[in-house]
Amino acid sequence: MIKARPEVESLTPYVAPLEGRRGLLRLDFNESTRGPSPDVLEAIRALPPEAYAAYPEYAGLDEAFAETLGITAEHVEAFNGADAAIKAVFDAYGDKGATFLTTTPTFGYYDPCAQQQGMTIDEVPYPADLSYPLAAIEKRLQTGPRLFFVCNPNNPTGTLIEPEIIVDLARSAPQTLVVVDELYAPFTGKSVVPQALALPNVVALHSLSKIHGLAALRLGFAVGHPAILDRLRRVTGPYDINMLAVVAGKAALADPAHVKRYVEDVLAAKAWTLAQLERLGVRHSTGAGNYVLVWPPGEVGAVVEGLRARGILVRSMGRRPVIGGSFRLTIGLMGDMETFMAAFANVIGRGE
Ligand SMILES: Cc1ncc(COP(=O)(O)O)c(C=O)c1O
Repeated sequence: MIKARPEVESLTPYVAPLEGRRGLLRLDFNESTRGPSPDVLEAIRALPPEAYAAYPEYAGLDEAFAETLGITAEHVEAFNGADAAIKAVFDAYGDKGATFLTTTPTFGYYDPCAQQQGMTIDEVPYPADLSYPLAAIEKRLQTGPRLFFVCNPNNPTGTLIEPEIIVDLARSAPQTLVVVDELYAPFTGKSVVPQALALPNVVALHSLSKIHGLAALRLGFAVGHPAILDRLRRVTGPYDINMLAVVAGKAALADPAHVKRYVEDVLAAKAWTLAQLERLGVRHSTGAGNYVLVWPPGEVGAVVEGLRARGILVRSMGRRPVIGGSFRLTIGLMGDMETFMAAFANVIGRGE
């Protein structure tokens, strides 16, 4: 058998349990439980055959996203999901033996991308209270890592830091590319955009997967200095974003009321869910984003299976550092959370 590069042979791939989920209540991947704006479905249904036969055209897409942030399109580049932007960052800026600095636990796709490049991974653990380990990060940044990722709010801990702090960190480390994964920023209203746009070493990542309900179509955006976006473009294929994503993305961005309502509904359902967990006396986190960590009494695997048997999916955090024994619960709409809470109370034997 022909061997791949040594970094690939020794790679631990990012594997997400994403099969067989249709028809279940999906509270495991922070997706929208409402789905996209009806305008998206209409725009796709209205497409002529030619739209499928021709290579995709991208005019107006970056502009439409830039407009939602109140910035100009030179600061925006679309990708095949934020995941493809993450991969492009490592392809363009990662280097064998160079250091990738981040925190742990965090979003699981960063590490395999760093491993593919043969980078040295330096992960600072969150303390037990899940606050951001700022002092340790400041210290590590002084050693000049090539890449530094901050997920804000962090998935899965919900840890949120002020954008000003990230901008200060970036200013203190001009030799480091600072990537701010802001996928869940619509739930907090806190972003390094636009303040960080002038800095030549910061790029923020956004996505239409979650609140816009377009996870299946894959559309994300890198937002930052044009010089960084140019380098990311160089390592990305010419037609990596498909035509349906472009059409759906434009229609979704043209209906901001749909997204605003979803965020409001989720935040209300989150407040209710946290109060219910409190009432049940179950340990949980209270950070930002459309998700919370729940430490059920007993073995987490059994509870996750018990919920699945009742048609509800949540994501076990198993033995992950700092948050072992918990599962991540996506917050959906009020009705979803009522369904979850009734089943959960039953599974842990604290039902009415
Ligand atoms: C923090 C974070 N970054 C990136 C992604 C990937 O987003 P996309 O679906 O746009 O590739 C996710 C998806 O779960 C995420 O939680």
